[in-house]
Order: sequence, then structure tokens, then C-alpha cells
Amino acid sequence: MEAAFVERLGPPGEIRLGLLPRPAPGPTDVVVRVELTTVNPADALVRSGAFVTPVPLPLVLGRDAVGTVAEAGETTGFTVGEPVWTNSLGHGGRQGAAAQYAAVSADRLYRLPPGVDPTAAVTVLHPGATAWLALFRHGRLRPGETVVVVGAAGNVGGAVVAFAAEAGARVLALARPADAEYCRGLGAAEVLDYRDPSLAGAVARAAPGGAALVVDAAGRNDLAWAVEVLAPRGRLVVLAGGAGGGDRPVLPVAAFYQRDLTVRGFVISRATVDELAEAAEGVNRLLSAGRLASRRATVRPLSAIVEEHRRVTDGTTHGRRVALRTSTH
Ligand SMILES: NC(=O)c1ccc[n+]([C@@H]2O[C@H](COP(=O)([O-])OP(=O)(O)OC[C@H]3O[C@@H](n4cnc5c(N)ncnc54)[C@H](OP(=O)(O)O)[C@@H]3O)[C@@H](O)[C@H]2O)c1
Repeated sequence: MEAAFVERLGPPGEIRLGLLPRPAPGPTDVVVRVELTTVNPADALVRSGAFVTPVPLPLVLGRDAVGTVAEAGETTGFTVGEPVWTNSLGHGGRQGAAAQYAAVSADRLYRLPPGVDPTAAVTVLHPGATAWLALFRHGRLRPGETVVVVGAAGNVGGAVVAFAAEAGARVLALARPADAEYCRGLGAAEVLDYRDPSLAGAVARAAPGGAALVVDAAGRNDLAWAVEVLAPRGRLVVLAGGAGGGDRPVLPVAAFYQRDLTVRGFVISRATVDELAEAAEGVNRLLSAGRLASRRATVRPLSAIVEEHRRVTDGTTHGRRVALRTSTH
């Protein structure tokens, strides 16, 4: 089968396009004929070795796949021809999705709801599930709370806005003014410019008394600012590194503990299969309702994977996501 893979971890130049044997499924696996995959920042972190995880070599790249069931054992619960998706390949010892076929453990495979466009779906699977985990597993969001979303026009941030609004929270989105309409369309009550030098004051005016939850989906990681905008008992969820705030932000400890605040970090790669399945239910619900979509999605052939890995490595995606067509079949 055609595949995009690396024989050793390293820069995007290590990616090869070529033929590999079709995967041999285990008894609880489903073989998926992959139609589309994508390139997430996480795929670049696995490829480079910056996110340490066991991988077979050669490693087929890619977490996410949308396709149809090609082979399924009776105990898997799937039938040949069903449209399906997965978002946990290519790390944790599993082969990836950027190939014509992938063997997927049945408990990591979900049905694509009827009427959902596979191209639109593939770009939001990983960001959508990440957003669900950030809000509900780690952020413990409750209806009626105010949540501030940093990076709200990005792929993860946009999904955070959509899930939080659906859950009955009041969403303050931090994004560029040019992206305000997109964020409002996802359900944001207000959109604030993240480059505003008096951003803490703007949040305080929009949320007198403070926010219950801040989700930083951009890696801004300004802990001092978060402590300023959070209400007592507030929670900050961090999930990315590097965008301006650097990796060693300063935490004003006295204000932090005296107001019972919490900072929580996570990676989706450590989510359990049950957590991923719950997140997948949420993703499917929003997809069916047409409430989850990348701000800018482009379809390209699998051969564009090297260029797309360079883009995410350089941080030049700005909310853009690509759907890679795995072959012409
Ligand atoms: N922990 C996990 O499990 C997990 C899972 C998925 C992703 N991630 C991480 O999450 C991050 C975002 O991924 P993504 O796919 O959503 O990327 P993305 O689509 O490129 O979105 C990033 C967003 O952050 C905004 N941004 C950049 N610098 C900012 C700043 N200083 N203040 C506020 N906003 C800023 C960008 O705004 P502009 O468009 O205006 O530049 C963009 O909208 C990546 O670092 C990724 O590795 C982590």
C-alpha cells in the first residue's frame, strides 16, 4: 500500500512516500481503508521525537483517519463498508494513518455520523477531542460558568468555544478582530483581541468577578495574567507550549493559593480509551449539528505531507488545517 512514513525520527526531510506491506490485523482490530488523514502539530512532535512515545519503525505518520471498514472480525462490532474515524494512531506503539490502509483497535474506532462530510471531519477529530478533554475532563466546566479561551480562532481553541457554548457556558474568545465573526459563529459571547496590552482589564470588564475557567489553546501560558483574570476556585488548563509565553512562565504563588486556583496540564496522548470514546461522542454530536469546523480547511494529495509537516513545525498554520487524500482509489 502507499504510505507516508519515517525510518527514523527527525525533521520533515525524513518523511518518505513509498510502498509498505498492508497491515495485518490482530483479532480485535478493524482494517480501515483510509480516505483522508491530516497533519496536526502533534504529528510533527512525534515525527521529530520531541514528544517521547514508543513507535514502530518504519513509522507510518498521522493520528487521524476517516475512511471505511475494509475488514472486521465478528467480535469487533463493525461491518465492512461502514464509514468510520479514529484519532489515536501513530503513537503509543501504534502505526499511523497516512496510508491506504490502517489496522485500528476496535475500541479506538468510531462511526462517522450520516451526512457528515469526511473532509470537514478529518480536520477537527484531534482538535475536537482535545477540546472536549480540556473542558470537561480537566477543566470540569459547569453550565453557566464563564470560560476564557486563548487561541479561540485556532483548531483546538475553536473547538473549545463550540463545546463550551453547547454546554451552556458563557465564552470569552481571545482572537484577532479579523476572526471575531468566526468565533461568534462558534458560540462566543464576546471576542477580545489577544494583542490588547490591557487584556486583563478587558476580561475583567467582560467578566466582573472573574472567569471560572481559562483554557489556553495557544501556548501563551501567561500564568500571572491567568491568576489576574480567574475568580476564586478558578481553573487554568494548559495544553501547549511555546507561543510567546515560553516554557518557564512566572506563577504569582501568593495570589494563586490564597484564591484556591488550580493549573492543570494534559496531553490527549495519555487519554484512556474510555475518555477518548466519550470525547468522540461529543465530536460526533457537534459534527452532526454542523457546529465543528476548521476555520480554513484545504484538501491536498498525500504527497503534500512533507510541506504540511514543515508548516506545522514552523508554526505558520494560523488556524489552517489540511485534509490529505491518501490515494486516488
Ligand atoms: N495537549 C494536547 O493534547 C494537545 C492536543 C492538540 C493540540 N495541542 C497543541 O495546541 C496548540 C494549538 O494547536 P492548533 O492545532 O489549535 O493550532 P492553530 O490552529 O494554529 O491555532 C493556534 C491559535 O493560537 C493563536 N495564537 C498564537 N499566538 C498567540 C498568543 N500569543 N496569544 C493568543 N493566541 C495566540 C493563533 O492565532 P493567529 O491565527 O492569530 O496567529 C491561532 O489561532 C499546538 O501547540 C498544539 O501542539 C495540544
